[in-house]
Amino acid sequence: MVKMDINNLNSLFYSKVDNVWSDSGLADFFTKIEPIQTALAEKIVNLIPKEFIRVKELGSGADLTRWEIISKLKLKGRWQVTLTDFSDKSIPSVKTFKDSENFLFGSEKYNLLNPTPRLVKKDRYDAILATYVFDSIWFPEDAHYEKISNNWHKVTYKLDVDKSYPKRNLLLKALKKASSIKRIQLDKFQHIEIERKVDTIEINKVPYGGIISKYYKNKSNLSLNLPGGLINIVQEYFERQISPGGVFIIGDMAVNSKKGFIPKDSPNDKVIYMEDYSTSGKVAKFKVEDYGLAAIILKQKGFAVELVTVEDFIKNSGYEIPLKVRDHWIMTVKKA
Ligand SMILES: C[S@@+](CC[C@H](N)C(=O)[O-])C[C@H]1O[C@@H](n2cnc3c(N)ncnc32)[C@H](O)[C@@H]1O
Repeated sequence: MVKMDINNLNSLFYSKVDNVWSDSGLADFFTKIEPIQTALAEKIVNLIPKEFIRVKELGSGADLTRWEIISKLKLKGRWQVTLTDFSDKSIPSVKTFKDSENFLFGSEKYNLLNPTPRLVKKDRYDAILATYVFDSIWFPEDAHYEKISNNWHKVTYKLDVDKSYPKRNLLLKALKKASSIKRIQLDKFQHIEIERKVDTIEINKVPYGGIISKYYKNKSNLSLNLPGGLINIVQEYFERQISPGGVFIIGDMAVNSKKGFIPKDSPNDKVIYMEDYSTSGKVAKFKVEDYGLAAIILKQKGFAVELVTVEDFIKNSGYEIPLKVRDHWIMTVKKA
């Protein structure tokens, strides 16, 4: 049987939708706001005291605003920046940067669902950067769990196409291949249905289950997404691509859990979460506690993790800006 998980939808979206970068309403929070770029660059400079810094961005997307801003900053040392993404539509064109004195730019096609290549010492990176990436891809290690009255369940998602849609077969075929020869218009995506399958599980038998059940031992009704892919990729990158002393910086949105609430007339105290939560391909796949859980797991694996809001990230690098966003987070990971 052809595997058709929620990621097939993501791949189609980023690789086959026309004007995906201009018309589809993609959030540009992390790439466009100037103090975020300044703070990111300063963080890297402060953590990597080298004259020549090698940086790789994952899932960078086609918009180059971040690097237009950073390459104009008066930073110490020279930077070699490799921008990567998985599809022709998303991979940035770095031609415009060719003349910059302290910045060398290159780009590479790279799919994060493929195994992480092991690099020789001279090709390794000092800093890896990924913003709005881990919440846009469903990794095989990601998992959605629900705890209802102290029983744990695993939710899996399956795709289907609206049975009444006249071009159902064509869209199904594209979804199954996660590709199509033709471009796909954005409005076609509304015919894709995401089905949920719920299985009861023993939480202590799933990966990191012991940590999950301890983390949530005092709560009886909740829903969580384990960022297993993020944990795995971070660990693999430190083993295979990051130079000693290097850093992995992740910026994502996480729905503030306060947006999950129990309506007054809800039977069995059922918690209602913000609609976008758990939706792949949108920026609200995770909630804040999910990253908290990832931080705990990464610390147990021997990493030093700093998880702060974007506001604090900017303030920590010496800037004061009136940026009131509590649900965008930056996680900085180093070897402890
Ligand atoms: C929401 S966009 C984020 C773009 C940019 N980094 C930013 O901060 O705005 C998600 C990015 O992940 C990329 N992406 C999706 N699936 C991918 C995969 N399997 N491997 C690598 N990148 C992927 C998309 O092409 C897209 O550029």
